[in-house]
Amino acid sequence: MKKPYYLSLEPLVPWKETERPCVWARRFGREAPIELEIGFGNGSALVERARAHPERHFIGVEIFWESVKRALRRAAQAGVTNLAIVQAPARPFLERLVAPRALSAALCLFPCPWPKERHAAHRLFSKPFLEILNSRLADGGETEIVTDFEPYRDWLLEQVPGTGFEARSEEIPASYGTKYEHKWSDLGRERFFRIVLAKREHVAIPSMRDETMRVHTIDRFDPERFEPKGTTGVPTVQFKEFLYDPQRRKGMLRAFVAEEGLQQHFWIEVAEVEGRWKIRPAEGSGLLPTAGAQLALDLARDSAAG
Ligand SMILES: C[S@@+](CC[C@H](N)C(=O)[O-])C[C@H]1O[C@@H](n2cnc3c(N)ncnc32)[C@H](O)[C@@H]1O
Repeated sequence: MKKPYYLSLEPLVPWKETERPCVWARRFGREAPIELEIGFGNGSALVERARAHPERHFIGVEIFWESVKRALRRAAQAGVTNLAIVQAPARPFLERLVAPRALSAALCLFPCPWPKERHAAHRLFSKPFLEILNSRLADGGETEIVTDFEPYRDWLLEQVPGTGFEARSEEIPASYGTKYEHKWSDLGRERFFRIVLAKREHVAIPSMRDETMRVHTIDRFDPERFEPKGTTGVPTVQFKEFLYDPQRRKGMLRAFVAEEGLQQHFWIEVAEVEGRWKIRPAEGSGLLPTAGAQLALDLARDSAAG
């Protein structure tokens, strides 16, 4: 074990266990404009803005756990209380945790550029992403994106038509002091590309609701013959391994599910209960109830019953 890592977990929002969409005013204990930072890295800009503007609320969303820890430590050192940090991919976060028109502004500094043309599909600010971002911004709200990569700027501007945003773009010097800005400045770069997207029309996308998961019950189950098959396409389901405890008559199936903008690993339990076999999400597996998760349960049932 490494040395203990001291930080406050107070700002951390466990997005799969929290109410969706989140009532942010209740979480923060008061009403205030909410600004979102996407992909905050070590959190330097996020925490500094939270410190400089105690009258506003800030939410940071970031996929990388090491970054989340760094930001939590910075937040604790700065003593800010107007900050929430969510470890999640930005798109399902916006779809599920943020109600329409809930944000006053959004910021993303140096989104992953995916410089190779064949990887462009991985870039975050695609048209569908801009649409969900638009729907979660208040009318007149703005999104600011800064990149060092000119082709990303050009690609992003191509995504804008039809998303309810009006774009303006300018070249700026280093202005934010983030790790990635330093990285490029140290390599001699002096100009960066700032794109501001102003919301002009509302794109109506309601909060995405959780699926009500249907669990399965079957009469017989033979672990020796249990070989569940996944499926490709959207959603994709893969089954990774099956562990079985004959004493407790209980098995655990590890599943991976990929659907629009969301990937999940979780465990499915196949357990004997009062003479019959239940197939259901394992307790504590941190599952987000989605159509893909349901499909994984259904495929497990098909194999178990067959
Ligand atoms: C190039 S780094 C920039 C970090 C920071 N903003 C800076 O300027 O130093 C991009 C960051 O975006 C995060 N990221 C990538 N895709 C994301 C997504 N879908 N949702 C949230 N964060 C994401 C990465 O983990 C990484 O921390």
